[in-house]
Amino acid sequence: MKKITLLTILFFCQLTMYAQQATSLKLMPMPKQSMLNIGKYRITGKFTVSIQANTADTTLYKAINRTYQALNRKTGLIFGQQYITATDRSDSASLVIAVKTIASAAIGVDESYSIKVDEKQVKLEAPNTIGVLRGLETLLQLWDKDNIGYYFPCIVIDDSPRFKWRGLMIDAARHFITFDEMRKNIDAMAAVKMNVLHWHLSDDEGFRVESKLFPKLQLDGSNGDYYTQAQLKELVVYAKDRGIIIVPEFDMPGHSQSWFAGYPELASQPGPYRPGPRGQWQKEHPDPNARKSTSLADIIANLEAPTFDPTNEKVYAFLDKFVGEMATIFPAGYMHIGADENNGLAWRQNPAIAAYMQQHNIQNTDDLQKYFVSRMYAILKKYHRQLIGWEEIYNDKLPADAILHKWIPTDGMIKSYGKTNDLATHHSVLISEGFYLDMFMPAYMYYNNPAFVNAASPNILGGEGAQWTELADNNNIDGRIWPRAGAIAERLWSPANVNDVDDMYRRLFLFRNQLDEQGLSHISNYERALRRLTNGAPIENLQTLTDVLAPVKGYRKLMAAMFKPAQATFQTTALTNVSDIVFVDSETKRKFRRLVQIYLEKKDKNAEEQIKAYLISWQQNDGLLKLVFAGNKRLTEVEDHSKNLATAATIGLDALNRIDKGTANDAAWVKQQSNALDEFGKAHNETEIAVIPEIGALVTGHLSNEPVSYSAF
Ligand code: ACM
Repeated sequence: MKKITLLTILFFCQLTMYAQQATSLKLMPMPKQSMLNIGKYRITGKFTVSIQANTADTTLYKAINRTYQALNRKTGLIFGQQYITATDRSDSASLVIAVKTIASAAIGVDESYSIKVDEKQVKLEAPNTIGVLRGLETLLQLWDKDNIGYYFPCIVIDDSPRFKWRGLMIDAARHFITFDEMRKNIDAMAAVKMNVLHWHLSDDEGFRVESKLFPKLQLDGSNGDYYTQAQLKELVVYAKDRGIIIVPEFDMPGHSQSWFAGYPELASQPGPYRPGPRGQWQKEHPDPNARKSTSLADIIANLEAPTFDPTNEKVYAFLDKFVGEMATIFPAGYMHIGADENNGLAWRQNPAIAAYMQQHNIQNTDDLQKYFVSRMYAILKKYHRQLIGWEEIYNDKLPADAILHKWIPTDGMIKSYGKTNDLATHHSVLISEGFYLDMFMPAYMYYNNPAFVNAASPNILGGEGAQWTELADNNNIDGRIWPRAGAIAERLWSPANVNDVDDMYRRLFLFRNQLDEQGLSHISNYERALRRLTNGAPIENLQTLTDVLAPVKGYRKLMAAMFKPAQATFQTTALTNVSDIVFVDSETKRKFRRLVQIYLEKKDKNAEEQIKAYLISWQQNDGLLKLVFAGNKRLTEVEDHSKNLATAATIGLDALNRIDKGTANDAAWVKQQSNALDEFGKAHNETEIAVIPEIGALVTGHLSNEPVSYSAF
């Protein structure tokens, strides 16, 4: 009996701790284990740091100084210790860091660390440099402020990652992403303990790397926007200093038009070529009605796409030299060869290639691609690089150390090469299925990515968020990737049972502010884009509307862009429409949803007042926007949304009134208003109103769970 009582008390203590933790910690990703204790370590101007480590560990000293100055800037306390050096070894410093060995960023390196904060001292311990880097990011998120000042909460953290590959793929080919932008994204990745930047550096639309051996690659294969070798090397070091490796991707044999602008002799067809989107989308199906009846699989299968000639030995000689050159720039032991979406059409259309296939008893273009991949595998091996390819490289002869990158959803829309666990039987696998950020899905969908619920095999290395940039450029990419990639980072770092969506969103929006403070431009880009849309007039009312708009989910916007005539490609169309600039996850929606949930559960008066305040502001906003809309063609795309939001808000206020008066159960009224709201909730001109389901919940009295998936098209 006594035992049971003690256990019960322990259980409740743990629950209390958990509750306290869940409502106050702002860590992203959440650590493997943490125990919040009572008390605070106060940060003052006397905050000092000491290090017990190998003095040669320059990465470590740089990181500690960066963190110290970040805290200094945040608190404004003017810390007295100018630089932290190897001579700072005092046991009584405010923050004592102890590390045993030097380590560099690498897949599989120990990334564990522990933090102990009590009222007297903060301690960070790790077996190696990388663990300290991860722990320093935790410390930067752990600080807090109360009415006395800044502090670290007393806590014990024991942390290490669930997966060893936690990546972000950025496509710098469709739109060029500048060196500076890349650097800021690396900072953001470091903040959430991601460790691989997968950099998609060439595609049909652009070749983004300087080659000294083959300069026509960048000179003819881009619009002049490419990274110099000096920049590439600098970024590799910048990433390494933050515990991140860079894995370059050079997509081949398809997605390769830009290579052929300067070197048409490498292609399966004579050319000439210039970099740019494949120009075939509109040509294949000039009649828009016919297009609708054509499946995506058919379109992809019939798309003419420039492709390397796999039967030409000169291709392999060229690629051998090129890979050798890139291996001197990118030291990580991996290279991604893409190999996705090659429909084989360019090969079938070349009689010499068809003859080669016959001569060599190659049955079909899938087998020819297999041959191409095997040749690239050998070239990469020569330069000690492990081959990674999108799942299309999969075949039963593929060498065991080639890494498969799963991306195709297993919904049958396009041919998938297998389920993740099957692919992982003989190969290491990376998962980007369900992590495509360019699909405009809300963060909770990435967070709940089913691929990770079922990720059973130890061969699953981890995954990568993927930001393709047909619809993202230097001006909006920060808000496209962040903060949503934080949810992906947490899925890859934290234990599987860290899965409370409400708490994830609470921390995600705090993380969004952290990123702003760090220098990422997602918030300032949004505000600047709104000012562009109002021609410099005040943005407040427009923002009341756009704060509750989201881009249409899936690939509808992308497909529309692809079917535009050749002179209006996605590369030349400015990404400054409302759908290009609004956040995928509306923070207002999340707050409003929470209030509606609390109100419907408890009829909480405070929640009701806040809901009313939102509804009244939306109801009135349409009138206030009249002047902004007048003569502004760029905003006609959201005028209907503004009206609909006002009408929806009126319905919401009516619903609250009816609940108060006890007349909310009028079935005919509920049906009529729900139907109206359903219409308002539909995507229109590439955006949709994000708060309609919550207003609908006021009408029906029931807040439905959010959809587990949305259609891609
Ligand atoms: C891909 O999205 N084609 C890898």
